[in-house]
Amino acid sequence: MFTRRQFVAGTVLTQAAALLGHKPAFASTAAFDRPLPIPPLLDARDNGNKIKLVAAKGQHAFVAGKETATAGYSGQVLGPAIRVRSGDEIDVTVENKLDRSTTVHWHGLLIPGESDGGTHNHFAPGQSWQTKLKINQPEATGWFHPHPHGETGRQVYSGLAGLLLIDDGGSERLGLPRNYGVDDIPIILQDRQLSANGSLQYAGGSFNVMLGARGDTVIANGIWAPVARVPANLVRLRLLNGSNARNFNLAFSDRRVFHVIASDGGYLPAPVAMSRLIISPGERFEILVDFSSTRPVILETGADAFVPMMGMMDDDVSGAAQIMKFEADATKQSSAKLLPRELAVAPRTKDSAGLRRRRFLLNDHMMGMGRMQFRNGGMAINGRPFDPERIDLTVPLGASEIWEIESQMMAHPFHIHGVHFTILSLDGRVPAAHLRGLKDTVLIRRSAQILVQFTQPATQQHPFMYHCHILEHEDAGMMGQYITT
Ligand code: C2O
Ligand code: CU
Ligand code: CU
Repeated sequence: MFTRRQFVAGTVLTQAAALLGHKPAFASTAAFDRPLPIPPLLDARDNGNKIKLVAAKGQHAFVAGKETATAGYSGQVLGPAIRVRSGDEIDVTVENKLDRSTTVHWHGLLIPGESDGGTHNHFAPGQSWQTKLKINQPEATGWFHPHPHGETGRQVYSGLAGLLLIDDGGSERLGLPRNYGVDDIPIILQDRQLSANGSLQYAGGSFNVMLGARGDTVIANGIWAPVARVPANLVRLRLLNGSNARNFNLAFSDRRVFHVIASDGGYLPAPVAMSRLIISPGERFEILVDFSSTRPVILETGADAFVPMMGMMDDDVSGAAQIMKFEADATKQSSAKLLPRELAVAPRTKDSAGLRRRRFLLNDHMMGMGRMQFRNGGMAINGRPFDPERIDLTVPLGASEIWEIESQMMAHPFHIHGVHFTILSLDGRVPAAHLRGLKDTVLIRRSAQILVQFTQPATQQHPFMYHCHILEHEDAGMMGQYITT
């Protein structure tokens, strides 16, 4: 087996240098002059709760003037923000105009396995997939993205991802900003590797598997260094980390305090004041930011501190970056001026004694190195790489369980389909206040104990997955599947 030091010094380093050792022509001097694109709002109710998406190839300039081949849902890149109302049933049709088979997973929706597109429910180019989404859960921000086993990383990287706005009237009740695109602004954060002419690079190979696909260009809603003109007041940002692998460590350039109001599954009990927020792939946080001081401010990220052997990569890959600029515009109105004191009832975490416990060890590349398993990099859970034919677990429908998950070497964002969970402990400690709400994804540096509630049916034909949301880890086998009985 390789030690960390041998690993750094060995083959991988050479590969890293070859893959990532160049700087793009447009690096470092951001003008912040392209307006932040706002994904079109697709309100299901305005469409009689029947919506259609087309997954197709596109052309898009992540950096101004530098077009590249991409893919998107009903657009050149990314997709619409689909607003769904809790209590409604939505008919969805997705047409596949890609040249590969795909699936669509509704990340964060509490729906039965058969309505979802995990690694099952494939549909081929030229075909359509129809599904029903029966929405019954608290207000939250979710998202949708492809999930075909072995190709999720590549398809998401090409641009396929969109937002789900689950609405139960909570924003109105709580007096939160709710004017989409004006004071309620979705921000999909991603990183991409672009060549000097702007073309999108998805590196294959073992290095990509080990650290996940990363890049030197941070984009927000699909473009590099945009500017958002916002009301000079309280504004809500719905943040999604849609990157394949990188964690963002967010802060504003003036280190202002903002309030986290929601995590993956909905509102926190009360707003949490923070000035720095780590968001891992798959996670969502909603924050309220006061823009009443008229000076422009930059949203920045620190380097991804969760990558082992950071030093082996080009400084710009997963390094610190300026993401986007905010400018207050006094002519714009915000629909909310006050920060609510309370938001939601705290999820129950007591009474977990006597619950069934299961243990999961997330095996990452380091252990596999000894056997030189470069292809899947040794990615597995409890020693078993993903097998679509194998059901790993059966959970009684309606049960609550405690899952104890351990990361072997690297930090992994662990995600479970079809559930909400609460974090009981993270690295042996009580989680920070903003991590105490309903979650479906958690970044695990060492270990976590989570209390999971299984409310959705999943059968042998349509199982749910649990996996690392570093998409290359997932594709390489750090994934399992469960059914309910
Ligand atoms: Cu967002 Cu199984 O994934
Ligand atoms: Cu998911
Ligand atoms: Cu991982």
